[in-house]
Amino acid sequence: MVKKNACVFISGYGSNLKSLIDNSRKENFPVNISLVVSNNINAKGLLHAKKNCIPYLIVNTKKRNFENSILKMIKKHKIVLICLAGYMKIISKNFLNKYRKKIINIHPSLLPKYKGLNTYERVIKNNEKKTGCTVHFVNEKLDSGKLIVQKSFFIKKKDKTDVLKIKTQKLEKRAFPEAIIKIYRYS
Ligand code: GAR
Repeated sequence: MVKKNACVFISGYGSNLKSLIDNSRKENFPVNISLVVSNNINAKGLLHAKKNCIPYLIVNTKKRNFENSILKMIKKHKIVLICLAGYMKIISKNFLNKYRKKIINIHPSLLPKYKGLNTYERVIKNNEKKTGCTVHFVNEKLDSGKLIVQKSFFIKKKDKTDVLKIKTQKLEKRAFPEAIIKIYRYS
C-alpha cells in the first residue's frame, strides 16, 4: 500500500498526535504523518515529532501571513490530509478553500452538541446522559462540518469533568484513526 502524506496540527499535549503516529506504523493504515504544525512553541506534543524524526513547523499566529508558511511546508511535503488534533486556532477561509474536504478535526463532544470550548463542564451542567467525541470535516463554521466518526459513552452519576475528559480522550484514540481509514476506504 502506498501511504498518503498527512500533517497534524497541534497546540498542546499531543496525545492524539502520538496515537496517529503509532497507527501510521501499521502496514494497512492509509497515511504517514509527514509533518507536524504547532502554533505553540511550548507544545508538549512537539516532543513526539522530535522523537519520531518528523519534520515540524512552529508558527507565530500573531504574524499576518503565518498560514503562508504552513501552506509552503504542506506543499513541500506533499500533504493530502490535515488533521487538527487539539489545534486551538481557527483556520482561515483562504486556507480552507485551498484544502477543502482535506481538513479534519477531533472534538470532545457529540457534535452538533457542545461546539466550542469547555465541553466537559457544559455536559455536566446540563446533566447529559451520554457524551463522547466526534471527528468531522472542517468548514467555515466552528465545529460544524460533515461528521465522519462519532463515539459515545454513558455518563455515570459520580463522573466529574476530569473523568469525562479521560473517558473521552480514550475514545478519541480509536475515533481519529478510524475516521482516516474511513476516508480512504474506497480509494
Ligand atoms: C482533545 O481532547 C481534542 O478533542 C480537543 O483538545 C484535546 C487535545 O488533546 N480539541 C478541542 O477541544 C478542539 N475544539 P491532545 O493534545 O492530547 O491530543
